[in-house]
Amino acid sequence: MPKITYIAFDGTPYVVEAREGTTVMENAIRNSVPGIEAECGGACACATCHVYVDEAWRAATGEPEPMEEDMLDFAFDLRPNSRLSCQIRVSAALDGLVVRIPERQG
Ligand code: FES
Repeated sequence: MPKITYIAFDGTPYVVEAREGTTVMENAIRNSVPGIEAECGGACACATCHVYVDEAWRAATGEPEPMEEDMLDFAFDLRPNSRLSCQIRVSAALDGLVVRIPERQG
């Protein structure tokens, strides 16, 4: 199973075995990774699943779709590598993915 590392705002890493076909957000929630709220349950309608994709993984995770771009405007401390984790689907190609969690959501 692909491994995903979530780095909390305080620097604590959470390494999770993720199921392919699920989203980066779902794996954070299932494993109680702190700092990802996902209020809308993955509908790309809340921006409380905001993460920063590690630079080395930006190409593999791709660019946000227009709907995600619009919702990202509501995210706290938006950066060029900001993504909504409910819109990143886990695949074998993302084995080793590293994402960082912002100081707060919304
Ligand atoms: Fe709401 Fe991702 S969970 S936008």
